Amino acid sequence: MNIYMDSKMDDDKRRQKLYDGSIFVYSPAASALKLCRLAQELIEAAFAPLNPLKLHESLPAEDCAAVLAHLKPEFIHHPKAKQYIRELLAELGYDLEKTYFDVPRMRTAFPGDYLKSGIAYAFHPHRDTWYSAPFCQINWWMPFYELNADNCMALHPHYWDRPVKNGSSRYNYYKWNLDSRHNAAQHVKSDTRVQPHPEEPMQLDPQVRLVSNVGGIFQFSAAQMHSTVPNCSAVARYSIDFRTVHLDDVVQHRGAPNVDSACTGTTMGDYLRATDLSHLPAEAIAPYFDGSEAEYISSTKGNGDTQQSIQYTR
Ligand SMILES: [Fe+2]
Repeated sequence: MNIYMDSKMDDDKRRQKLYDGSIFVYSPAASALKLCRLAQELIEAAFAPLNPLKLHESLPAEDCAAVLAHLKPEFIHHPKAKQYIRELLAELGYDLEKTYFDVPRMRTAFPGDYLKSGIAYAFHPHRDTWYSAPFCQINWWMPFYELNADNCMALHPHYWDRPVKNGSSRYNYYKWNLDSRHNAAQHVKSDTRVQPHPEEPMQLDPQVRLVSNVGGIFQFSAAQMHSTVPNCSAVARYSIDFRTVHLDDVVQHRGAPNVDSACTGTTMGDYLRATDLSHLPAEAIAPYFDGSEAEYISSTKGNGDTQQSIQYTR
């Protein structure tokens, strides 16, 4: 694995390096810091007068989950969040006409067993491609409060070209959206939602733990094996992540190699063009349909706008 720091590489080359398993790290950019500040303001207002880093010391986990159930969607759909991502893409040299992103997620990782399922799910080792992400997806990840090596995220790069027996063949993105996602906040102590897990013992070491300052960005391929580090620190970890795809790679089916993903469905309908928030053209998405959409969504044909109104039918 190569790690590129504050690289000035042009975007076509950068994406190819990501598809080859490299990661890119960027110092906090002005727009990344604005995005972090927005997340901080929302979370501090939601939990006031408590310190968000220390919620586990005084707030019952159920109450915390209830607040997060409102807070996380508020951040996801905040218009300023999309605006700052657009600015960030421009700052890092992305072509706004051809780059599409999905809405940013706010993630939490609390110390010990306080709250690590449902709305604050602690991710077991996985590739996003087990969850119907395309192989051209690039993951962006940044902390919005100070991070340490005992509450961050880890990559397991020796699995880049090494298959792992896993449950992705039983995962369908449309079914997940219908059955599970809206129930996340109900899973406070355990999580019964079916997710693709490794189905053989894994060797998590050596691992690369990503630790940056607030607003520092890590980019890695959706095919990269990664996990939430069990939080052994005294403070909560808060991070933002979102994903991008480039239209040319979608159309030309470029991306990381598939070593072990067998899920069905696709997240292609989720990405929004940086310029005008339009969806990928329907003709670009169509080759990614595998037939499973027929059971779950009402319309997969028509012009690009049709994707904006995908209606789940079950
Ligand atoms: Fe992930």
